[in-house]
Order: sequence, then structure tokens, then C-alpha cells
Amino acid sequence: MSRIVHVNGKWLPEAAASVPVFDRGFLMADGVYEVTSVLDGRLVDFAGHMARLARSLDALGIVNPHDDAGWLALHREAVARNALVEGAVYLQVTRGSAGDRDFAYPPAGTPPTVVLFTQSKPGLADNPAARSGWKVISVPDIRWGRRDIKTVQLLYPAMAKMMAREAGADDAWFVEEGLVTEGSSNNAWIVANGRLITRALSPEILHGITRAAVMRLAAEMQMEVEERAFTIAEAQAADEALVTSATAFVMPVVAIDGVDLGSGRPGPVVTRLRAIYIEEMRRAAI
Ligand code: PDD
Repeated sequence: MSRIVHVNGKWLPEAAASVPVFDRGFLMADGVYEVTSVLDGRLVDFAGHMARLARSLDALGIVNPHDDAGWLALHREAVARNALVEGAVYLQVTRGSAGDRDFAYPPAGTPPTVVLFTQSKPGLADNPAARSGWKVISVPDIRWGRRDIKTVQLLYPAMAKMMAREAGADDAWFVEEGLVTEGSSNNAWIVANGRLITRALSPEILHGITRAAVMRLAAEMQMEVEERAFTIAEAQAADEALVTSATAFVMPVVAIDGVDLGSGRPGPVVTRLRAIYIEEMRRAAI
């Protein structure tokens, strides 16, 4: 089924949707994005994604083209027009096009480009991968220094995903100065002695919306969370490991660089966290 996508105020069949070749998103990866998951036709943790979108745009000096109510209306229309039940809404805002290629930003008042499309992913919640868990490999983190801004510069994360596939794994964890930063498109966690451990927020990682939700849930479950970096060796010796993202939710990691964690099966903490996360997000979705 062809999707109906949103481009700058218009709803178009995907084959008819386009942006100018001089768009800075295309020429310079000068843009930001958000991915909001959809369960039961409703948006998961929408306010968090819009707050981060506003931060990303602000950090790059791109004017936010809509307020939260406007974004909500667009997201809901994307879901409705595509009869989306389970999956995600992808949103991208670029600095727009000045009609030529130039390193200097276009003049103030150049309208940003806004694109929204849906991705149907039946089985997002009841994901068979969550029953077996992911295998990850480690790769050097050679990304830029403002990973807290959710930009569309995703070439290296895409390369890391392919390196993982070539190694027979599902994903890659980035390592910088001997410490894990995050996954190719998710935040990385380990569980040791009943405590959840994940890297503290800084410009080195994306401030995951799912990460924040899992922190809140862990507090409600009276689980201790330690925000600190860890090494691959510590992760390989941990009881469990997991990643969090808007599309993976809470995904068990069962092997790192070919070393099985514990039994090599998803453990009790991650299994419980995933169930509680999905239940809570389903309930609170709008
Ligand atoms: N990726 N870290 C990176 C580098 C990411 O790209 C993502 C999300 C996350 C998790 O953030 P959140 O919990 O807000 O989804 C962490 C999205 C899903 C993507 O690129 O498709």
C-alpha cells in the first residue's frame, strides 16, 4: 500500500512527494528528526519526542515550524491517513533550501522543510527478536561531538549496522576511550548485581526518550540505576544487557563481541522491564 506522506503542509502519495535538490538536508545532512512509535494507533511518549525536537532545532538555530499542538495534529493525521495501528511516525525538519549549494546558512526567514511519514511495523510490541535477544559487536565511536542533537547525519551508524550484519550480529555498540557510549541507534545498558547501569547524559550520547521512561519505571520498581559509563569487558561479565529506543523499546542483548552473557538468553530483569515498559506506554499513549 502506498503511503500518504506530509511535505511542507501537503499530503501526497509517497511517489509524488519530493523535496528540492538544493535542500540542505540532502546536501549537508543539515536537519534533525524524531521517531515516535505508535501502539494501537496512538503515539507513545509524544511529549518527550517534541521536547527533544525543540532542543535539537534550537541547538542548530532552525526555527521550530510548529508548536506541540501543531505537531500533534500532523502526527495524528499521518496515523489516520495511513490507518497505522502499530509502527512509527518519522518526522524530519531541515534548514530548507536557498536554491543553491552554499556552506553559509540561507537567509533568515528561509522556510525549513518538514516531512512526516509512517512506517507500519506489526509485531513491534510482540517482537520475536525480544524473545531471543540481540547479539552486538563493538566498533570505535568516530561520530561528531554533538550526539545529543538528533541530526540526520546517520552514515556512520548505518555503516556500524552493516559491520554488525557482516559479523553475524544484530547491532553495534560504539566505544570511545575504552567506554561504551551507546548503540548504533539506541542507548546501551547493563544489569549487574540487580542494578541498571547506563551512561550519564552528555553531548556524547543521544538523550533517549525511551531511556528516560525506563529510568522513571525503574524508580517506581525500586530498582537502582547507576548513570555511569562501562567497558565492553564489564558488559560481557554483566548478568544482563539491553538497549532502549523508540522502535526497539527495551531489547535484550545476549552476546557482546561473541561472548554470551550469562545463559545467552534474555534474563529476568530485561524481560520484566520490557513488559512493564510496553504496558505503561500503551496505557499512556495519546
Ligand atoms: N534512534 N541513541 C541513538 C544514537 C539513536 O539514534 C536513538 C534513537 C537512541 C534512542 O533514543 P529514543 O529512545 O528517543 O528512540 C539512542 C531512532 C529510533 C532511529 O534513529 O530510528
